[in-house]
Amino acid sequence: MSDNKTQNGGTAEKGPGQLPELVKFRNVTKVFGSGPNARTAIQDVTFTVHDEPGSGELIAIVGPSGCGKSTVLRIIAGLEPHFPPTAGEVFVCGKPICKPGADRGVVDQKYSLLPHLTVLENIAFGLKLRGVSRRERLDRAREWAKKVGLEGAERSYPHELSGGMQQRVAIAATLILEPRILLMDEPFGALDPKIRMQMQALLIDLWREQQSTVFIVTHAVEEAVYLGDRVFRMAAKPGRLVEVLSVPRPDVPPEVMRKQPWFMEMTQDLLHRLEADAPATGALNGVKG
Ligand SMILES: Nc1ncnc2c1ncn2[C@@H]1O[C@H](COP(=O)(O)OP(=O)(O)OP(=O)(O)O)[C@@H](O)[C@H]1O
Ligand SMILES: [Mg+2]
Repeated sequence: MSDNKTQNGGTAEKGPGQLPELVKFRNVTKVFGSGPNARTAIQDVTFTVHDEPGSGELIAIVGPSGCGKSTVLRIIAGLEPHFPPTAGEVFVCGKPICKPGADRGVVDQKYSLLPHLTVLENIAFGLKLRGVSRRERLDRAREWAKKVGLEGAERSYPHELSGGMQQRVAIAATLILEPRILLMDEPFGALDPKIRMQMQALLIDLWREQQSTVFIVTHAVEEAVYLGDRVFRMAAKPGRLVEVLSVPRPDVPPEVMRKQPWFMEMTQDLLHRLEADAPATGALNGVKG
């Protein structure tokens, strides 16, 4: 594991006028299997996300199936078998990571709710593991149920909820723990377009309030451009980062923004580039080390 080589190589250092580095990938490669069965999930991925005071960055990751989007997210989360990478260095808050931590929260497409617990108990579950008293954790869970629009459903069980409601429980259950870095893997993939737009707007509100840094993987280019401060475009075979696109922050609801000319142009152009896929050796557009 190459991280071991860099115990003293933390990158929290900041030059004059520079922000500290929150997440840094330096030439990260992940190969699954070996010999003739070896499969390169990601190759030589390099990027830095800075710790912006008062408002974390929202990074949207797009790319074709199999290009390594989940691999990047799971490496940041410190989750096996994607973590540790085969080569390269990964830093979170300036330190090499070695396992999952309370500074990183994961929401994936499968919602991961506990079926035998109510909405409130699901939202409060992480606080229970942290030893927070029953009264306090249920009070805080009630606040979060309200924030994500689940007032009145607190005593329901997951199987009694729609997909959109389950997803809101999962988001509340993660955000209540106040992770510094929120990692979301296609969180809205299973939702219908209307609920999906409501969830996008909700995510923006919660993100502004909590000021965490968010990585969100999505197949929807419009969603990426709406949500992202930066859009990371990946390409496949091997999985790699081929473009980093900076986008204005959303200041209007998604249904308004998607009708604005600059937005339509940006999403169309991005879609074309995704379809064309950059050549493996192409120059990295806007990628900073
Ligand atoms: N546990 C694993 N064992 C072996 N190969 C894996 C494993 N996980 C991922 N891979 C391979 O690594 C590559 C990248 O996978 P990854 O899941 O990161 O892609 P993705 O961009 O998230 O795809 P999708 O959009 O379909 O979710 C793929 O070729 C995949 O087959
Ligand atoms: Mg994936």
